[in-house]
Amino acid sequence: MISKKDRLFNLSTKHTTYLFAITETGHLEHLYYGRHLSNPTLSIDALAEKRSLNIGTGTAYDNDHPTLFLTNLCLEYSTMGKGDYRESMVDVEYAKGMQTLDFIVKSFRILPGKPRTFSGLPESYGDKETCTTLEITLKEACLALRLVLTYTVFEDSDVITRRATFHNDSTAMVRIRNLASAQLDIDQDDWTLTTFDGAWARERTMTEHVLQPGILINDSKCGVSSADHNPCIFLTNKEGECIGMNLIYSANHREVVETTTFGKVRLLTGINPSGFSWDLSPQDRFQSPEAVLTFSASGMNGASLHFHHFINNHIIRGAWKLRERPILINNWEATYFNFNEDKLLELAQESAKLGIELFVLDDGWFGVRNDDTTSLGDWTVNPKKLPSGLGGLSLEVHRLGMLFGLWVEPEMVSLESQLYKKHPDWMIAIPGRRPSVGRNQYLLDLTRHEVREYLFKSLSETWHLADVNYIKWDMNRVFSDLYSINSELHHHGEFLHRYVMGLYELLSKLTQAFPNVLFESCASGGNRFDLGMLCYMPQTWTSDNTDALDRLYIQEGTSCGYPLSAMGCHVSASPNHQTLRKTDLEARFNVASFGVLGYELDITKLNRQQKEAIRSQIAFYKAHRALLQYGQFSRIKLANSASNQVIWAVTSEDKSELLVLFAQKLNPANPGSDKLRIQSVDLDAVYEVFPRQQKIDIKMFGDLLNRISPVAITEGGIAQDTISKAVSLDSEVEHYRVSGEQVAFSGIKLNQQFGGTGYDAMTRVLGDFGSRIYLFKKIN
Ligand code: DGJ
Repeated sequence: MISKKDRLFNLSTKHTTYLFAITETGHLEHLYYGRHLSNPTLSIDALAEKRSLNIGTGTAYDNDHPTLFLTNLCLEYSTMGKGDYRESMVDVEYAKGMQTLDFIVKSFRILPGKPRTFSGLPESYGDKETCTTLEITLKEACLALRLVLTYTVFEDSDVITRRATFHNDSTAMVRIRNLASAQLDIDQDDWTLTTFDGAWARERTMTEHVLQPGILINDSKCGVSSADHNPCIFLTNKEGECIGMNLIYSANHREVVETTTFGKVRLLTGINPSGFSWDLSPQDRFQSPEAVLTFSASGMNGASLHFHHFINNHIIRGAWKLRERPILINNWEATYFNFNEDKLLELAQESAKLGIELFVLDDGWFGVRNDDTTSLGDWTVNPKKLPSGLGGLSLEVHRLGMLFGLWVEPEMVSLESQLYKKHPDWMIAIPGRRPSVGRNQYLLDLTRHEVREYLFKSLSETWHLADVNYIKWDMNRVFSDLYSINSELHHHGEFLHRYVMGLYELLSKLTQAFPNVLFESCASGGNRFDLGMLCYMPQTWTSDNTDALDRLYIQEGTSCGYPLSAMGCHVSASPNHQTLRKTDLEARFNVASFGVLGYELDITKLNRQQKEAIRSQIAFYKAHRALLQYGQFSRIKLANSASNQVIWAVTSEDKSELLVLFAQKLNPANPGSDKLRIQSVDLDAVYEVFPRQQKIDIKMFGDLLNRISPVAITEGGIAQDTISKAVSLDSEVEHYRVSGEQVAFSGIKLNQQFGGTGYDAMTRVLGDFGSRIYLFKKIN
């Protein structure tokens, strides 16, 4: 709901209210973002900044307003040169580098729904039942320049999106140095900032920052949204309130959190101005990406739920929106580049028998690519590896009743490729300078139309031939040596934005041409996990690191901003290929099941016990897939804390069913009791609670087996191996009938864990990195 009464704009969702007012000078003063107010118009005065006195050394707006100091006002937008000395939202150079700007409200309009943007940027969508849009036009006090602020209120998700559009109505070129998407000025109420930081194989780990006077910057400068610092950020305070902010953009972003000595906090998000500039011709306009804001009175869990709802309903689009995603097998860690048709079919056949639904052929199927030094750009099949072609392989996979998926990395070129020989100038490099390299490969200049056309044509032909149902779109290096011969570029500061706009155009064409294909975005794992990519591709490969312990941190961090339906999570081999850590097969599944499940190991080499375990994992996942992909997710005990335990829960909308993950980092000696206390239950309900039955590998007991075995069993010996292949133990028997109140107010004390003093049918044997999934089913 959006309304305007007198000077006040009221943007309200079901649980939140956002207020700002037009000041007597025609600026927009931000007044409030928080819990829903039922009568917001009662007193603007109570919320507005008081300014009857001068501030020493302050710059007053003008002679008529000697006590108006923009630098100590909460504003909806900001510029330079008029006395606001914080980081500004808009920075534009005109007339020989002048930067002073002052925008004054001229008009506004409120529109049902959300009009589509002109810019080609990915954006959220909604109809007039779910959202309303406010457009405020501001005019520069002395120049023919306009700024349009757009707000869309998504009532059903408790989300407000914002963007800015800059119009050059003058007769001269202006240079945009910065146009942030949103600015939020709030009071400093002891906020803590949470960012999601990392690198390859350890993406989106939560970091907390205490706000102190000064500027904190969360940004990316490598050309993609990055594993280093995700664009999603949160502010939380001791009252349990939380503000979340994200950006629908996949290239360089910047979030500024500036805390002033006047006790105010300014948040900005948008394209990173570092290395960016945009020359705007007369009568032209430039639009920022869309920023996404939410507020919750239930902390970060509450804010995450808003984001999850928003992404599932207003970002993800097409045939796979809100649809259960297939369980896949990916051959990458099973074979790497070393495969042939027989090997792939053997893998597919075994997978089909276990209930896997989608076979994905990863890197190495094209050109002469037997390692990572060649062939990127040549999207034609290698007949030596696949004599029946992609069509033949896909046909066999389809015959098995599975979907067929294919890996591609279209944004890249290898020096050793037909494409490079034919079009060396399509590669991003500066003439006369040796280009830097990543994974032996180089980027293609997607700012250029002819490059995009080539990719569209060659990819479409291949995908038609292969009759694909799924595409994994990879991107394994970031940018360097920025340069283009594209004459559309006025300035190389435009390059990265033009690149990502080219990528978006290509993705838009391909997703329209293949409307039923499920796309998964990937960038060496999660180096481009963002809302921009999710507008085209409903899921993203979360991380190359599939270690059961590390994934607790990675998935937990990712879940703060993104829904489980968007997170690709695979069970891989042990020892893990990234960490060499040995973890139990069941523990790997328990963690991977909180997301879109897949397997990425050579399952043909597993023993009967292991295959049986996988068969029942898959049956369990299918039975609870809707919950595991679309349920309401909450983080109860964080991996990213001093706690040895990690607890997550997914709850169905009507709270009739819950799945709770209990995981531990290390096996404690002589442990105390473990407890499941979960708030997201129906307090009036009665639940049956029991753990998913899983298998315990007898190898876990090592030499202790000799205490009960009539024959001597040597640790790591043939006897132990043979028994382990033939026999496994069932996990503990445990069952409760409890009220919702007991679960929420007291918690369930679980069976004793193994503590070195004995073992019986009730003993919970988890081991290091071990876990259980508990099923809660409402029975009344
Ligand atoms: C990086 C991806 O993250 C992996 O899953 C795999 O597809 C490789 N690239 C293939 O080169």
